[in-house]
Amino acid sequence: MVVTQCNISEGTENAPHPFALVEAMRSIGYTPPTALADLIDNGITAGAKNIKIRMSPPRTSTPSGFVVVEDDGNGMSPERLAEAMRWGGDGPDRPRRVDDLGRFGLGMKTASIALGRRLTVASRAAGEPLRILRWDLDHIAQAGWKMLDGPDAEAEPLMARSALFTEPTATGTIVIVTYLDRLAVRSSLPSHSERNEAALTAKIAEHLGMVFHRFIAEGLKIRLGASEISGWDPFKNAVLKDTEKLGGAVEVASYVLPHHSTVTTEEDSRMAGPSGWGAHQGFLVYRARRLIVPGGWLRLFSPAENCRLARIRIDLPNMLDDGWKLNVMKSSVVPPSWQLADLQRIGEATRRESMAMFNFRGERQAPTTGSDDSSVPNAFWMQVPSPDAVRFRINRAHAVVQTLKQSVRDPAVAEDFLRAFERMLPLQAILQDPKRTVNGAVDEPTPDELRGMAEFAKKAVKTLRAQGYATDAACRIVLCSEPFALYAEKIRPHLI
Ligand SMILES: Nc1ncnc2c1ncn2[C@@H]1O[C@H](COP(=O)(O)OP(=O)(O)OP(=O)(O)O)[C@@H](O)[C@H]1O
Ligand SMILES: [Mg+2]
Repeated sequence: MVVTQCNISEGTENAPHPFALVEAMRSIGYTPPTALADLIDNGITAGAKNIKIRMSPPRTSTPSGFVVVEDDGNGMSPERLAEAMRWGGDGPDRPRRVDDLGRFGLGMKTASIALGRRLTVASRAAGEPLRILRWDLDHIAQAGWKMLDGPDAEAEPLMARSALFTEPTATGTIVIVTYLDRLAVRSSLPSHSERNEAALTAKIAEHLGMVFHRFIAEGLKIRLGASEISGWDPFKNAVLKDTEKLGGAVEVASYVLPHHSTVTTEEDSRMAGPSGWGAHQGFLVYRARRLIVPGGWLRLFSPAENCRLARIRIDLPNMLDDGWKLNVMKSSVVPPSWQLADLQRIGEATRRESMAMFNFRGERQAPTTGSDDSSVPNAFWMQVPSPDAVRFRINRAHAVVQTLKQSVRDPAVAEDFLRAFERMLPLQAILQDPKRTVNGAVDEPTPDELRGMAEFAKKAVKTLRAQGYATDAACRIVLCSEPFALYAEKIRPHLI
């Protein structure tokens, strides 16, 4: 291909219509939680210790309400604020500090207009005067890229309460978004609007607590309305299995979470995380210690029930943004092709560790008992020790066994079958190649097998109900019993 050098003034000017561009940028994919996270990034980069969010989503179809994000960071000089309001800033290649959470020079503007039509920003740096500037999408539509000075009528009273106004030497920044046309919680029933708003607030708190958990652990306070957001640490209680540095800059640490039988039910559901076991297994990618990707296998593997205890922390420095294809919303990355083999290897090893932790259930599965009549109804196998041997017995009190006995015409035949089954356990074969047989035992069920298991669990619930258990209690027992307990999340919806 021949590339001809052209004169700098050559070409036909074809600038975008400002209103068309900003309207399109409103839809690049922010959700309210990711938009707020982007605004908080800026406060953290500016050294804030306290970030307060106040929010009042409109309950009518008219754009109204407000979102206020206020921080006590270093703030901006009047000139710096004017520069900060510029869409794109100095572009993504400007050199940044290693702890700078920004990249594109867009976040403050794009995240705000993803929520509403007006953005007012007030800021003061030490020894500098306060300055207030605003973008108004309706003004851009008429006047082009013209910012306005001072707050609009809706933002002014919201600012008056902040320390920047009440304390003349306070530093920090307030971002106010008004005319919220993208944050409606409205419903035809007022009680539903209230419920929608509560759900939105909870979702935002969960997301921010997850994304910024490392900063929160070090003392950052983020308040949402009257509540302080608590962090969710995906690695709390996890056991570190391995660490390594890829390409000199990417730090990888593989963890395995404890088996559910060794933690309380509350701890187990805390470990599952805001989006559940399926979503938070795999790679959790942090950039400058801020969580970008909260789980998933980066398209290298599929999620699996027995891999849910595997969590691999990847710490990226912000200088690798390009190589890892960070997106504007800071919600996704794509690993560079030259690092895929290493990630695959680390993923495989950690998945194996997770499966091994699942095997730990085997020890619980066969508790030692002095009698055949179990007091542990959830265990499928029991160990019956005698002075010189151990026999393995199927627990006759288990819901599966009960269901089997009740579904056959002659329960004695079922009992004969169980005894034969116990005698014919191919122990020799298992012992000859224990590693491979254990791996075979933790293979994920196919969708057909899972469907069959759900059907069977349903029958087991029915059996227990016929024995006088309430539906709730019967479901609980079945879902805590092997093998259903391992796939409880998938089986539960099919139970009743
Ligand atoms: N709360 C704040 N405190 C101090 N400076 C801020 C604050 N918010 C924004 N800035 C300044 O404004 C600039 C532009 O912010 P903006 O969020 O638009 O882009 P960015 O943070 O540089 O990159 P990104 O698009 O990745 O977020 C920042 O680089 C920072 O210098
Ligand atoms: Mg930013």
